[in-house]
Amino acid sequence: MVAFTLNGAAVSVEATGAPLLHVLRGACGLSGPRFGCGAEQCGACVVLVDGAPAYACTLGIEAVAGRSVTTVEGLGTPEAPHPLQRAFLDEQAGQCGFCLSGILVAAAALLARDPDPDEAAIRAALDPHLCRCGSHNRILRAVQRAAAEMRA
Ligand code: FES
Ligand code: FES
Repeated sequence: MVAFTLNGAAVSVEATGAPLLHVLRGACGLSGPRFGCGAEQCGACVVLVDGAPAYACTLGIEAVAGRSVTTVEGLGTPEAPHPLQRAFLDEQAGQCGFCLSGILVAAAALLARDPDPDEAAIRAALDPHLCRCGSHNRILRAVQRAAAEMRA
């Protein structure tokens, strides 16, 4: 049994040796974190562990015992979206959306530690995330827009 906090709620799961991503998508029923490469190469699976981005595809479930995990579902709701989620919609920053759950949580971690990141800092924070749809410029604008809104 592994107990941890998931999007603010205490959970415990029966899982041994499984990657965190499998537990999140399976036992926890969350479809936000995605399986892309399974090898820390695409960023689709990224979640926050104690506020820092982590690859859920390779992180063993035991590693999050007693820690706090945040997925894109934990950022906001359709009724009360996180400023980043609103900005991504406003900028239409995505096409298929497969990459976005990882990008959104990574951007949230960036803005939590740096409320006014320059373009280079945003690019560096999102560098581990691939977007095959080529939405990069819109994603960049959306993060800048959310940062400005959160500072205001
Ligand atoms: S699925 Fe984890 S980095 Fe690609
Ligand atoms: S929006 Fe399709 S992979 Fe990024």
